[in-house]
Amino acid sequence: MAQPRFTERCVKCNKQFTGQIFNTKCDVCGGLIEIEYDLKRCQVDHSASSVIAKYRDLIPVHDPDNLISVNAGNTPCMRSERLGKVLGLDNLFLKDETKNPTGTVKDRPAEVVLSYFKERGVWHFTSSATGNSSTAFARACIQNPPFEHSIFVGERWLHRITCDAHERIHVWVLEGRDVTTLEAIAFSRKWERENNIPPEGGFFNIGRREGLKLAFLEAVDQVESGFDWYIQGVSTAMGAYGAFKGAREYQSMGVLDRAPKLGLVQEATCAPQVAAFGEDSPTIEEHHVFENPDGVADALLKGNPKDTYPYMYKVVRESGGTYVSVTREEIHAAREQLLELEGIAACCASSTTVAALKKMVASGAIDRKERVLAVITGSDRDPSQHIRRYTRVVRTDNGWEPAGVVKLPKPDKNLRKAS
Ligand SMILES: Cc1ncc(COP(=O)(O)O)c(C=O)c1O
Ligand SMILES: [Zn+2]
Repeated sequence: MAQPRFTERCVKCNKQFTGQIFNTKCDVCGGLIEIEYDLKRCQVDHSASSVIAKYRDLIPVHDPDNLISVNAGNTPCMRSERLGKVLGLDNLFLKDETKNPTGTVKDRPAEVVLSYFKERGVWHFTSSATGNSSTAFARACIQNPPFEHSIFVGERWLHRITCDAHERIHVWVLEGRDVTTLEAIAFSRKWERENNIPPEGGFFNIGRREGLKLAFLEAVDQVESGFDWYIQGVSTAMGAYGAFKGAREYQSMGVLDRAPKLGLVQEATCAPQVAAFGEDSPTIEEHHVFENPDGVADALLKGNPKDTYPYMYKVVRESGGTYVSVTREEIHAAREQLLELEGIAACCASSTTVAALKKMVASGAIDRKERVLAVITGSDRDPSQHIRRYTRVVRTDNGWEPAGVVKLPKPDKNLRKAS
């Protein structure tokens, strides 16, 4: 039998995983499971028609018949003359992930995760986050029966789940503007146990990280060169983790001579990783946590990344990079510049990159000659297009309870234009 092209191993206790089961964490020690390719046998197929086929040797799927494309990627990567000049950078490159099918980089993990799930026989999974991933998963599942997806959100995030109502997409909305993501996750966990449906796993899902790394590999292939810095607005930073792993893989394959320094950005109102890294702490401690975080960078509002940050601490240190926080005003100014100078309509989460670059150039952290890749991870969602069929979940004396299905009419486009 042919040697498998990759193996899965726990980065903490080294346990090797065989077979095609879906694991998020190691069953012995709870560690992150990492994928290791036989890089001598890996190639990029530059003639392939889809991104997933092009990078198929570097994604965690054995059988090519299991590859699912939702047309993610193939996004522009351009040298930014105008913004670069304003920022004082001679070699600034923008990876414009707003051009993905649902407007964010999260379409990339959606197609890799679905391919990975197909191979492992997972056909129904849950997610509970701030909207972009759930929306990307929903579209990918709708396009690929029989996949089913159950989404759990607090009311405040409903406007960010933008997809058509569909019999295989189930949305559960916990009512109350003050409902936290943690409450939505707790309800989701209970539902998963009762219904025997797995959570997709977020950072701990190999397919997520491996899907996100493709934005970086694609940028390298487009400009046919490496970068000194990789800059991204982060929530857990799974994208940056993937990018750094991808850079190491390209080094082993002889495509790159170096991996980039990671410059990871958070909004000042929710910056637990910035706080911990600033103290050189390899873990998130109580005083780094942002309870009920708020801010304009919606997609980055994760106040307590205690499970994932220790992995990030290691890679950011190894890369020689750093974390930066930026204010709401700095984000808004950067967002205007991205639109005016580069014509990119970026969301606030993505605009944190440009805000951070200003600071990093001013402080001397980045030299003007360095090659900088800023990943513009997404655009705003259209709140009027939020999913219009969902199950209400209400607080009762016995905890959260489902309270019936809501079906809202589609918004009238003409009315919106007139108002
Ligand atoms: C537009 C956008 N930017 C950045 C992020 C944060 O990325 P990561 O999950 O890699 O921290 C997200 C995550 O949802 C996002 O949707
Ligand atoms: Zn382990």
